[in-house]
Amino acid sequence: MRLERLFCKRRFFKCFAVFILLFMAWMFISFMMTINDEDFPDDVVYDIFIDETQDDHPHVPLDQEIMEEAARKKSEKRYGSVENVDPPDPIILWWTEFTLEPGKSRSCKDKRCFFTNNRAFKSHKNLRAFMFYGTDFSPNDLPLPRQKHHEWALLHEESPKNNYLVCHEEALNLFNHTSTFRRESDFPITTQHLHSLKWLESDVYTKTISQKNRYQQQDGLAPVMFVQSDCDPPSDRDTFVKLLMKHVKVDSYGSCLHNKHLSHPIEKPLEGMAHKDFYELISRYKFALSMENAVCKDYITEKFWRPLMVGTVPIAFGSPALH
Ligand SMILES: *[C@@H]1O[C@H](CO)[C@@H](O)[C@H](O)[C@H]1NC(C)=O
Repeated sequence: MRLERLFCKRRFFKCFAVFILLFMAWMFISFMMTINDEDFPDDVVYDIFIDETQDDHPHVPLDQEIMEEAARKKSEKRYGSVENVDPPDPIILWWTEFTLEPGKSRSCKDKRCFFTNNRAFKSHKNLRAFMFYGTDFSPNDLPLPRQKHHEWALLHEESPKNNYLVCHEEALNLFNHTSTFRRESDFPITTQHLHSLKWLESDVYTKTISQKNRYQQQDGLAPVMFVQSDCDPPSDRDTFVKLLMKHVKVDSYGSCLHNKHLSHPIEKPLEGMAHKDFYELISRYKFALSMENAVCKDYITEKFWRPLMVGTVPIAFGSPALH
């Protein structure tokens, strides 16, 4: 009796399990058939995938094109439409904004050229040259495609640290003309911060050694001064100055290793650095740390010339060409 019951029970479960399995299989098969035959007709399935055999699928704009279009629109908004402007002279376009002029005719060797910042001139038939300001030069924003008669020119007067790209041969080879701190460039600006030799000969600010000694003894000035606004640059000058400070007193006026204040009106770096009060201040020191933010051949700035002009010895670190 017991056995019989158990047997029946077992058989019942077996039958039930088989029934469930069959039911699920039927559900699955009918579901698959619905997918293939009704919900996804062949042509719809086909469209989901990219059809590489078809030539006329819509053109997807590249990032470069989107950016260029945005820059062109911005440029047109700022400098105006060029529909009715048709300069007869060769057009020189500042691809990276520089003069901020919409367009101006200037002499250009023995003829006239039309200089503009307006990118709408990019495709003008008279366009001859694109100019780039080194710091703003970006490989993601170039006037492409480059035409045979398009010449590219680079002006890079700032530190190599501002754009590492222009330290590379491959980048420099893109340009037909260069004007940089390197003396090998077509129009070198190595000495742009030295206005004339007369400046070096002038003794307007020069102090005698006994005067400088008095500034040290009476006003408590250090023998060495340091001014900078850019901390921890690639030249790592701060590490050197920190070490030097362990041995020699250094008056540091800039934002790094700061221990001395610049007073009005020279506390603002941009306006103050060419002020006569600033020259006067440097001239009271025996030495000035003239350390560039990047060490690069021929990169010599006013940090070097300024102490020389006022009779203070520059302790120079920068271009290996300095002697
Ligand atoms: C300008 O430079 C490019 C790239 O080096 C070169 O292909 C082109 O011929 C140059 N154009 C002229 C006019 O020298």
